[in-house]
Amino acid sequence: MPVGILCAIPQELQHLERELADAAGERRAGATFLRGRLEGREVVLVGSGIGKVNAAMITTLLVDRYGCDPVVMSGVAGGLDPELHIGDVVIATRAVQHDAGVIEHGRLAVYQAGHVPFFNPTDRLGFHVPQELVERVKARLEGFTLPPMSKRAGGEGRPPRIVFGTVLTGDQYIHCEETRERLFRELGGQAVEMEGAAVAQVCEAFGVGWLLIRALSDLAGRDSRFDFAAFVDEVAKSSAAILHRLLPVL
Ligand code: ADE
Repeated sequence: MPVGILCAIPQELQHLERELADAAGERRAGATFLRGRLEGREVVLVGSGIGKVNAAMITTLLVDRYGCDPVVMSGVAGGLDPELHIGDVVIATRAVQHDAGVIEHGRLAVYQAGHVPFFNPTDRLGFHVPQELVERVKARLEGFTLPPMSKRAGGEGRPPRIVFGTVLTGDQYIHCEETRERLFRELGGQAVEMEGAAVAQVCEAFGVGWLLIRALSDLAGRDSRFDFAAFVDEVAKSSAAILHRLLPVL
Protein backbone atom coordinates (compact mmCIF):
# COMPACT_ATOMS: atom_id res chain seq x y z
CA MET A 1 0.00 0.00 0.00
CA PRO A 2 1.30 3.48 -0.76
CA VAL A 3 2.23 5.88 2.02
CA GLY A 4 0.03 9.00 1.93
CA ILE A 5 1.97 12.20 2.59
CA LEU A 6 0.31 15.55 3.19
CA CYS A 7 1.82 18.96 3.71
CA ALA A 8 -0.35 22.01 4.43
CA ILE A 9 1.68 24.63 2.54
CA PRO A 10 4.03 24.74 -0.48
CA GLN A 11 7.13 25.52 1.65
CA GLU A 12 6.64 22.13 3.34
CA LEU A 13 5.79 20.26 0.15
CA GLN A 14 8.69 21.50 -1.99
CA HIS A 15 11.41 19.48 -0.22
CA LEU A 16 9.55 16.22 -0.92
CA GLU A 17 8.24 17.10 -4.37
CA ARG A 18 11.81 17.71 -5.61
CA GLU A 19 12.84 14.17 -4.71
CA LEU A 20 9.76 12.36 -6.04
CA ALA A 21 10.63 9.82 -8.77
CA ASP A 22 8.23 8.72 -11.55
CA ALA A 23 5.74 11.43 -10.52
CA ALA A 24 2.27 11.43 -12.09
CA GLY A 25 -0.32 13.96 -10.95
CA GLU A 26 -4.11 14.01 -10.72
CA ARG A 27 -6.27 17.01 -9.75
CA ARG A 28 -9.09 16.43 -7.29
CA ALA A 29 -10.95 18.68 -4.84
CA GLY A 30 -8.65 21.57 -5.75
CA ALA A 31 -5.49 19.64 -4.84
CA THR A 32 -2.83 17.82 -6.90
CA PHE A 33 -2.26 14.20 -5.85
CA LEU A 34 1.21 13.10 -7.01
CA ARG A 35 1.82 9.37 -7.20
CA GLY A 36 5.49 8.43 -7.28
CA ARG A 37 8.39 6.88 -5.36
CA LEU A 38 10.45 8.25 -2.49
CA GLU A 39 13.30 6.18 -1.04
CA GLY A 40 12.01 3.36 -3.25
CA ARG A 41 8.64 3.42 -1.47
CA GLU A 42 5.38 3.99 -3.34
CA VAL A 43 3.83 7.26 -2.09
CA VAL A 44 0.99 9.69 -2.86
CA LEU A 45 2.09 13.25 -2.08
CA VAL A 46 -0.35 16.15 -1.81
CA GLY A 47 -0.65 19.72 -0.55
CA SER A 48 -3.79 19.85 1.58
CA GLY A 49 -4.07 23.55 2.35
CA ILE A 50 -4.35 24.90 5.88
CA GLY A 51 -6.79 23.79 8.57
CA LYS A 52 -8.75 20.81 9.84
CA VAL A 53 -11.41 20.62 7.12
CA ASN A 54 -8.82 20.66 4.33
CA ALA A 55 -6.75 18.05 6.15
CA ALA A 56 -9.76 15.79 6.77
CA MET A 57 -10.94 16.02 3.17
CA ILE A 58 -7.52 15.24 1.70
CA THR A 59 -6.85 12.43 4.19
CA THR A 60 -10.18 10.83 3.28
CA LEU A 61 -9.20 10.86 -0.40
CA LEU A 62 -5.70 9.49 0.34
CA VAL A 63 -7.17 6.55 2.24
CA ASP A 64 -10.39 5.81 0.40
CA ARG A 65 -9.42 6.62 -3.19
CA TYR A 66 -5.65 6.01 -3.24
CA GLY A 67 -5.55 3.17 -0.69
CA CYS A 68 -2.84 4.80 1.46
CA ASP A 69 -1.73 3.31 4.77
CA PRO A 70 -0.20 4.94 6.75
CA VAL A 71 -0.84 8.65 6.21
CA VAL A 72 1.95 11.00 7.30
CA MET A 73 1.77 14.75 7.80
CA SER A 74 5.12 16.50 7.41
CA GLY A 75 5.62 20.18 8.14
CA VAL A 76 6.07 22.88 10.73
CA ALA A 77 4.40 23.85 14.01
CA GLY A 78 4.60 26.35 16.83
CA GLY A 79 6.47 25.19 19.92
CA LEU A 80 4.58 25.12 23.24
CA ASP A 81 6.99 23.29 25.54
CA PRO A 82 9.46 25.84 26.97
CA GLU A 83 12.21 23.20 26.80
CA LEU A 84 12.06 23.24 22.99
CA HIS A 85 13.68 25.65 20.52
CA ILE A 86 12.99 26.73 16.95
CA GLY A 87 14.20 23.90 14.70
CA ASP A 88 13.48 21.09 17.19
CA VAL A 89 11.13 18.41 15.91
CA VAL A 90 8.06 16.93 17.59
CA ILE A 91 6.77 13.56 16.42
CA ALA A 92 3.26 12.96 17.73
CA THR A 93 2.36 10.01 19.87
CA ARG A 94 -1.01 11.73 20.48
CA ALA A 95 -2.94 14.53 18.77
CA VAL A 96 -5.70 16.62 20.40
CA GLN A 97 -8.09 19.13 18.83
CA HIS A 98 -7.62 22.00 21.27
CA ASP A 99 -10.47 24.06 19.76
CA ALA A 100 -13.19 21.38 20.25
CA GLY A 101 -15.37 21.26 23.36
CA VAL A 102 -17.96 23.04 25.44
CA ILE A 103 -18.15 26.77 26.12
CA GLU A 104 -19.10 27.27 29.78
CA HIS A 105 -18.85 30.49 31.78
CA GLY A 106 -17.43 32.23 28.72
CA ARG A 107 -14.57 29.78 28.35
CA LEU A 108 -13.79 26.67 26.28
CA ALA A 109 -13.53 23.40 28.19
CA VAL A 110 -11.72 21.16 25.68
CA TYR A 111 -13.52 17.87 24.98
CA GLN A 112 -12.98 15.07 22.49
CA ALA A 113 -13.82 16.16 18.92
CA GLY A 114 -17.08 14.59 17.71
CA HIS A 115 -18.43 14.32 21.28
CA VAL A 116 -20.58 16.41 23.61
CA PRO A 117 -20.43 15.36 27.30
CA PHE A 118 -24.20 15.15 27.91
CA PHE A 119 -25.02 13.59 24.52
CA ASN A 120 -22.31 11.06 23.58
CA PRO A 121 -19.80 11.21 26.45
CA THR A 122 -16.34 9.66 26.28
CA ASP A 123 -13.29 9.37 28.54
CA ARG A 124 -10.93 9.89 25.63
CA LEU A 125 -9.10 13.08 24.84
CA GLY A 126 -7.20 12.97 21.59
CA PHE A 127 -6.04 10.25 19.21
CA HIS A 128 -3.06 7.95 19.75
CA VAL A 129 -0.62 6.87 17.07
CA PRO A 130 -0.71 3.05 16.95
CA GLN A 131 1.92 1.90 19.49
CA GLU A 132 3.56 -0.54 17.09
CA LEU A 133 4.15 2.31 14.61
CA VAL A 134 5.65 4.53 17.34
CA GLU A 135 8.08 1.71 18.24
CA ARG A 136 9.16 1.27 14.60
CA VAL A 137 9.71 5.02 14.24
CA LYS A 138 11.72 5.26 17.47
CA ALA A 139 13.93 2.35 16.47
CA ARG A 140 14.60 3.83 13.03
CA LEU A 141 15.55 7.23 14.50
CA GLU A 142 17.98 5.86 17.06
CA GLY A 143 21.32 7.56 16.42
CA PHE A 144 19.87 9.73 13.64
CA THR A 145 20.79 13.43 13.83
CA LEU A 146 19.69 16.49 11.87
CA PRO A 147 22.19 19.15 10.78
CA PRO A 148 22.40 22.15 13.18
CA MET A 149 20.16 25.14 12.44
CA SER A 150 21.69 28.27 10.95
CA LYS A 151 23.03 30.96 13.37
CA ARG A 152 20.18 33.20 12.19
CA ALA A 153 17.66 30.72 13.55
CA GLY A 154 19.44 30.59 16.91
CA GLY A 155 21.45 27.47 16.02
CA GLU A 156 24.42 27.09 18.36
CA GLY A 157 26.10 24.27 16.55
CA ARG A 158 23.96 21.67 18.29
CA PRO A 159 21.71 19.41 16.21
CA PRO A 160 17.96 19.99 16.67
CA ARG A 161 16.28 17.72 19.20
CA ILE A 162 13.76 15.13 18.06
CA VAL A 163 11.12 14.47 20.74
CA PHE A 164 7.94 12.40 20.96
CA GLY A 165 4.82 13.89 22.52
CA THR A 166 1.43 15.55 22.18
CA VAL A 167 0.60 17.75 19.21
CA LEU A 168 -2.36 20.13 19.54
CA THR A 169 -4.46 21.06 16.52
CA GLY A 170 -6.95 23.88 15.98
CA ASP A 171 -8.25 26.19 13.30
CA GLN A 172 -6.27 29.03 14.86
CA TYR A 173 -2.77 30.37 14.27
CA ILE A 174 -1.35 30.96 17.78
CA HIS A 175 0.46 34.26 18.11
CA CYS A 176 -0.14 34.86 21.80
CA GLU A 177 2.11 34.19 24.81
CA GLU A 178 -0.85 33.78 27.17
CA THR A 179 -2.51 31.15 24.95
CA ARG A 180 0.78 29.38 24.43
CA GLU A 181 1.28 29.05 28.20
CA ARG A 182 -2.30 27.94 28.77
CA LEU A 183 -2.20 25.26 26.05
CA PHE A 184 1.01 23.84 27.52
CA ARG A 185 -0.24 24.00 31.11
CA GLU A 186 -3.74 22.63 30.51
CA LEU A 187 -3.21 20.15 27.69
CA GLY A 188 0.50 19.37 27.94
CA GLY A 189 1.10 19.86 24.23
CA GLN A 190 4.67 20.04 22.92
CA ALA A 191 3.62 21.73 19.65
CA VAL A 192 0.59 23.38 18.06
CA GLU A 193 -0.50 23.30 14.43
CA MET A 194 -3.67 23.36 12.36
CA GLU A 195 -4.20 19.93 10.73
CA GLY A 196 -2.71 16.92 12.53
CA ALA A 197 -5.53 15.78 14.81
CA ALA A 198 -7.98 15.96 11.89
CA VAL A 199 -5.71 13.58 9.93
CA ALA A 200 -5.68 11.36 13.03
CA GLN A 201 -9.47 11.34 13.40
CA VAL A 202 -10.00 10.33 9.77
CA CYS A 203 -7.29 7.64 9.86
CA GLU A 204 -8.69 6.17 13.05
CA ALA A 205 -12.16 5.98 11.49
CA PHE A 206 -10.72 4.04 8.52
CA GLY A 207 -8.46 1.90 10.72
CA VAL A 208 -5.20 2.99 9.05
CA GLY A 209 -1.95 4.21 10.62
CA TRP A 210 -0.97 7.86 10.88
CA LEU A 211 2.02 9.94 11.88
CA LEU A 212 2.75 13.65 12.38
CA ILE A 213 6.26 15.06 11.97
CA ARG A 214 6.42 18.71 12.98
CA ALA A 215 9.53 20.91 13.04
CA LEU A 216 9.19 24.11 15.09
CA SER A 217 9.12 27.25 12.95
CA ASP A 218 8.21 29.51 15.90
CA LEU A 219 7.28 29.40 19.57
CA ALA A 220 3.60 30.42 19.19
CA GLY A 221 4.10 33.55 21.34
CA ARG A 222 4.38 37.22 20.53
CA ASP A 223 6.96 36.89 17.73
CA SER A 224 5.51 33.77 16.19
CA ARG A 225 4.30 35.16 12.90
CA PHE A 226 7.65 36.85 12.24
CA ASP A 227 9.59 33.73 13.20
CA PHE A 228 7.29 31.59 11.08
CA ALA A 229 8.00 33.67 7.97
CA ALA A 230 11.75 33.70 8.67
CA PHE A 231 12.25 30.01 9.46
CA VAL A 232 9.52 28.02 7.71
CA ASP A 233 11.74 27.02 4.76
CA GLU A 234 14.71 26.01 6.87
CA VAL A 235 12.80 23.95 9.42
CA ALA A 236 10.43 22.31 6.92
CA LYS A 237 13.58 20.71 5.48
CA SER A 238 14.09 18.89 8.81
CA SER A 239 10.66 17.26 8.85
CA ALA A 240 11.17 16.17 5.23
CA ALA A 241 14.59 14.70 6.18
CA ILE A 242 13.01 12.70 9.00
CA LEU A 243 10.29 11.43 6.70
CA HIS A 244 12.96 10.27 4.21
CA ARG A 245 14.68 8.40 7.01
CA LEU A 246 11.41 6.75 8.11
CA LEU A 247 9.96 5.78 4.73
CA PRO A 248 11.70 2.39 4.48
CA VAL A 249 10.00 1.27 7.71
CA LEU A 250 6.54 2.76 7.13
N1 ADE B 1 2.07 26.35 12.54
C1 ADE B 1 3.29 26.91 12.69
N2 ADE B 1 3.29 27.79 13.70
C2 ADE B 1 2.04 27.80 14.21
C3 ADE B 1 1.41 28.51 15.25
N3 ADE B 1 2.08 29.40 15.97
N4 ADE B 1 0.08 28.28 15.48
C4 ADE B 1 -0.60 27.38 14.73
N5 ADE B 1 -0.05 26.68 13.74
C5 ADE B 1 1.26 26.88 13.46
